[in-house]
Amino acid sequence: MQRRNASGGGVAVLLTAIMALLPTGCDALLDVPHLTLSKSFSRALQDCMEYLQVPGYRYAEYAANSFPDDPETKCMLRCVGLNLRWWNDTTGMQTAVIEGFFHPDPLDELYENRTAECLRKELSHADTTDCCCLAYDSFRCYLQHYGNLVPCARFYPEDETRFVRAAQDCIEFLQIPHKLLKSYSAGSFPDAPETRCLLRCFFLRTGVFHVDTGFDVERLYTRDYEQPDERYLAPETEARLHKLRGSTGDQCTEVYLAYRDVLGELGRAYYEYDVLQAAAAKMTVCEVAVEPPAMTTTTTTTTTTTPTTTTACPSTTEFNYKELNCQNCGRLFISNNGRVSCCRCMKSSTPFGKFFF
Ligand SMILES: *[C@@H]1O[C@H](CO)[C@@H](O)[C@H](O)[C@H]1NC(C)=O
Ligand SMILES: *[C@@H]1O[C@H](CO)[C@@H](O)[C@H](O)[C@H]1NC(C)=O
Repeated sequence: MQRRNASGGGVAVLLTAIMALLPTGCDALLDVPHLTLSKSFSRALQDCMEYLQVPGYRYAEYAANSFPDDPETKCMLRCVGLNLRWWNDTTGMQTAVIEGFFHPDPLDELYENRTAECLRKELSHADTTDCCCLAYDSFRCYLQHYGNLVPCARFYPEDETRFVRAAQDCIEFLQIPHKLLKSYSAGSFPDAPETRCLLRCFFLRTGVFHVDTGFDVERLYTRDYEQPDERYLAPETEARLHKLRGSTGDQCTEVYLAYRDVLGELGRAYYEYDVLQAAAAKMTVCEVAVEPPAMTTTTTTTTTTTPTTTTACPSTTEFNYKELNCQNCGRLFISNNGRVSCCRCMKSSTPFGKFFF
């Protein structure tokens, strides 16, 4: 499998533009967009040297791609693999992840065969209880046969909980109506403008979709490393996504159609719906306890039991956000101490207006 070169002129231009905007003295590289994880091999190496208290003087030889056959180095490489998620003690090498950290020679047509052969040979006589050794031997096969280690930070996969967290964030950002959340948490995803925009937000936040360049299929391929699917990287997929680019005039719809018709079934099929369902199930509590008015007057001396009233959020009759306008919401939910207490109340629907039709 040939991975396309991930660099793009647009990215460089964008980075320069971002750097120009940052106040001097800030490290632009620390200003991470969305919730994307990316890290370089050498950064992961330094992390693991710290975790495992490997003496600093060893860094020089590691940085020169020399990884001697000693217990300390072996366990450190396992740590690097766990850190970047290309190693799992149960399932071994995660090829869709580690491939991203190596750049094959463009003229080398057999790098995959040689790597596979090496893995087969090394692992056939390995002690399968020694995970450090297994990780080390597997890594060495890539280092010797697959290509050169890429010095740059590379995208690496989230774990499940971070995906759910990202979906929860998007649900909050976009103020997805309660009624839709109930539907999602029951596993049903009605085609509503909010659903479309929620998918777009989720892909954006997890770094596999960019506002100006569209879907990043290499990242999707890496993201679904547990079920690597090379159809992500196929020219046909690229062509179909390209055809959708800008065709609808609305990016939420473009993302939705791309998901429904092209990407959804690839890799972990319709994984996003599982994640959104899990996230929605965590968010369905939408009841705010309204505090009773504070007793400021001195005349009220009788002891009264002040029951806590609970105000449910308004249920929308339609999945149209404009129905849920804030004037109404505010009027309904201003308690007699003047407190507005609706958990999903928008101050104004205008900033969101462009997301919905
Ligand atoms: C390793 O893979 C197994 C089986 O897929 C999975 O259950 C486990 O969570 C993975 N471990 C890590 C640390 O990701
Ligand atoms: C490389 O491996 C692939 C898949 O196993 C095989 O089809 C192909 O013939 C191999 N190429 C060479 C030159 O050995």
